[in-house]
Amino acid sequence: MPKPRILVARALFPAVLERLAQHFEVEANVHDDIWSPAEFAAHLRDKDGVLTTGSERIDAALLAACPRLRIVANMAVGYNNFDLSAMDAAGVQGTNAPGVLTETTADFGFALLLATARRVTEGERYLRAGQWRRWSYDLLAGAEVHGSTLGIIGMGRIGQAIARRGAHGFGMRVIYHNRSHLAPEVEAACKANYVGKEELLRTADHVVLVLPYSPESHHTIGAPELALMKPTATLVNIARGGIVDDAALAEALRTRRIAAAGLDVFEGEPQVHPGLLEVPNVVLTPHIASATLPTRLAMAQLAADNLIAFFAGRGPLTPVNQ
Ligand code: DGY
Repeated sequence: MPKPRILVARALFPAVLERLAQHFEVEANVHDDIWSPAEFAAHLRDKDGVLTTGSERIDAALLAACPRLRIVANMAVGYNNFDLSAMDAAGVQGTNAPGVLTETTADFGFALLLATARRVTEGERYLRAGQWRRWSYDLLAGAEVHGSTLGIIGMGRIGQAIARRGAHGFGMRVIYHNRSHLAPEVEAACKANYVGKEELLRTADHVVLVLPYSPESHHTIGAPELALMKPTATLVNIARGGIVDDAALAEALRTRRIAAAGLDVFEGEPQVHPGLLEVPNVVLTPHIASATLPTRLAMAQLAADNLIAFFAGRGPLTPVNQ
């Protein structure tokens, strides 16, 4: 039996490529070339499976060009790069990489919250620019984190891990909004209380977004929502670009409608809305919330596990459709 043919769409750990090569005939984008959709389709045309990173769009046009394709294994928990109905129609399995990045991503959410509230990057820019002359009582004064109210929108695994950090580590009052209420024992472990979205936006000192992107969550935070927030509030987005209307946020930051924002994800990334690059009160990072080598390795291994299990006929470990 010939080995199934696999495409690895982006550069990846050599150890994972070696493991995949034991099971498959592998073509890997070892130089991490940026492929256009047409180039991606050309590489994928003769493949049975693909390991993607979340940047590659899997839609009806691609699937029509790649009739052999049977599985797409994303090494990301988010899978908004999948058109699930097109994949279902084409009989293509999708998988994601949940669980293995939860704590690492929550750590980063908190890093961004702290950096934003306490103006860490603004302070560093100020110092490096040689502007620091003397201590003064209100120099780069930020917002309290300990004892403040943390509002989390999207209370899956990562939201819950952020809630635990806030409640147990920083003595924060935690409120959350989610599609559904958590079970009472989960709420108790996170010390989190469910509230409506409007109440969360009006009450929270720090709002953290951790919900999946979908057409329903597009622009969950836009001008009307920003208008509800406290002028002293901070907003952190580690979920997906598109959940926030970046143009409206840039304007809210420019006019100090809210105090500050911390953003790891952007609409149309790696492009960043120019208005966000112009304002000082935003911390900007390049989609690195899950970026530690142990976690990225675990994500890649889970994607590989999914491919191996699928082609061995055992069924994928973490399917998202079918
Ligand atoms: C995820 O896992 O969805 C992350 O955003 C990928 O880096």
